[in-house]
Amino acid sequence: MYNIAIVGATGNVGRKFLEILEERNFPIENLYLFASKRSHGSYLPFKGQDYLVEETCEDNIKNKKIDFALFSAGGDTSLKYAPIFASYGAIVIDNSSAWRMNKEVPLVVPEVNPEDLKLHKGIIANPNCSTIQAMVPLKVLIDNYGIKRIVYSTYQAVSGAGMQGIKDLEDGLKGISPKKFPYPIAGNCLPHIDVFLDNGYTKEEMKMIEETRKILHSPNLKITATTVRVPVLNSHSESINVELEKSFNIEDIITLFEETKGLTVYDNTKELKYPTALDVNGKDDVYVGRIRRDFSVDNGLNLWVVADNIRKGAALNAVQIAEYLINNK
Ligand code: A2P
Repeated sequence: MYNIAIVGATGNVGRKFLEILEERNFPIENLYLFASKRSHGSYLPFKGQDYLVEETCEDNIKNKKIDFALFSAGGDTSLKYAPIFASYGAIVIDNSSAWRMNKEVPLVVPEVNPEDLKLHKGIIANPNCSTIQAMVPLKVLIDNYGIKRIVYSTYQAVSGAGMQGIKDLEDGLKGISPKKFPYPIAGNCLPHIDVFLDNGYTKEEMKMIEETRKILHSPNLKITATTVRVPVLNSHSESINVELEKSFNIEDIITLFEETKGLTVYDNTKELKYPTALDVNGKDDVYVGRIRRDFSVDNGLNLWVVADNIRKGAALNAVQIAEYLINNK
């Protein structure tokens, strides 16, 4: 049995951690919930009991024995508190972008690069939601055919922008102005996720590019990305265009995808079968459909990849990392 802390327990992903730990019957001895000072003294339910939420501060950490600390409280909180939790012996699994590109910190999707977990020094990073779901099919392709170039175009749900992201969509449907997004998200698409950088890309786009290279151990892989926020409550959809090194036939790729743990092929255009955000909500797997050749280049392939961004794209992936560590001690 393990002692678990959740930092950012009152947030969107924090609550999903609780749901997933409960539904997977994670072996928990003690559960400690942390959030900001605002939430100190409130309670959250877990397995029919109410658990106290405490302010995240060293005084509240040092008297507890914690095996795993699951973080989703923003980059600043992670930068400050992940090393503190680790110094008291916890393995931190962090959902923010704060530690992802640090050379000392493994960035892991358990179906894709679990071997990197061996290198951890107390902090492990969960990749960006839009990166996680892309990695599951792309790992199959890079291992079997090699990848020359990737073009990502994403259609990302508002839940990825936290509680206020969801509220902006709900408010927007009633004609109320947004607070989180710079323009209305209801009835709109915003090619703008996270901040703009000097190179013209958004930080979200650069996260997809850099994290893909790190997870696939391919530092020179050619990748470009356009990430778009769409008026969908939950689950991200992605068009992924890939140029493979070797020639392929589609049937072989479908068979390989069908054999891959964590990936569900849902692809039959004659029967109008392709994954959608609404269908994939609440599912653990990454779903892939519209698997077809890109005739405009040699060895080109198009995929439509959909996953629950709060589940596989965040909380579930982090819990799977903890489970992997427990099962492969
Ligand atoms: P709180 O509810 O007390 O503000 P979301 O991204 O869904 O909005 O969730 C953010 C999570 O991060 C919440 O649990 C929030 O707690 C927590 N959080 C925000 N700021 C801090 C902070 N300075 N220290 C600890 N937790 C924080």
